[in-house]
Amino acid sequence: MRRPVIAGNWKMFKTRGEAVTFIEELKPRVANVTHCEVVVAPPFTALADAAQAAKGSGIGIAAQDVHWDAEGAHTGDVSPKMLLDAGCSHVIIGHSERRHDHGETDEEVNRKLKAALAAGLTPIVCVGETLEERESNQTQQVLQRQFQGGFAGLTPSEFSRIIMAYEPVWAIGTGRTATPEQAQESHAYLRELARAQFGEERAQAVRILYGGSVKPENIKGLMAQQDLDGALVGGASLKVGSFAGIIDYPAA
Ligand code: PGA
Repeated sequence: MRRPVIAGNWKMFKTRGEAVTFIEELKPRVANVTHCEVVVAPPFTALADAAQAAKGSGIGIAAQDVHWDAEGAHTGDVSPKMLLDAGCSHVIIGHSERRHDHGETDEEVNRKLKAALAAGLTPIVCVGETLEERESNQTQQVLQRQFQGGFAGLTPSEFSRIIMAYEPVWAIGTGRTATPEQAQESHAYLRELARAQFGEERAQAVRILYGGSVKPENIKGLMAQQDLDGALVGGASLKVGSFAGIIDYPAA
């Protein structure tokens, strides 16, 4: 049984105070939630305060990026050890906005992933095609390249500690969600890649989240798909009401 994960990616939103207020309001809304894991990803500056506020609530705290070195001359970067120190349990790696804004490559994703795993963080690794790639029928090629590059050299047991997120770039922040069938097709393909590289058991166990304009109104149809194990939510995770509405998908 794969336990679903609903994760909120706040991107470059919320001050420390806003993050704490959000967590305090979210806590009672998720106090009795057992059907899924709940994670939020505040910006670096709010991680420690958010983690403090979330203590004992079961809400996981994710960073939105990490460097592969433990320390060093890397201006602007943050190490796995620093994330643990701030109270993080998870870290998002390879989000398309980082790939696009910062030119992040599959090789860098791979290095970050290995460092996060070595530190004991749970990585949420993002893959997904652009509109141009989809329209030229390259979706599977792109996913294969990102998968094989991102997960190169991992042992099956390391792979079993990862959460994957399929985020078609054309669906992120556009209001244009993939249909449940489009999402399922890519999720099934990613599971197939996992099977080929890490074996049947690990492939069946890995959680694959969908991301791209997830809202309370469309989560139920997405979650009904066989290979979809949760969501990575951007815009709709910024308000407690809509984020809690997504977490409550079984009642939607
Ligand atoms: P969105 O973002 O829900 O605003 O489309 C998703 C993401 O980028 O993780």
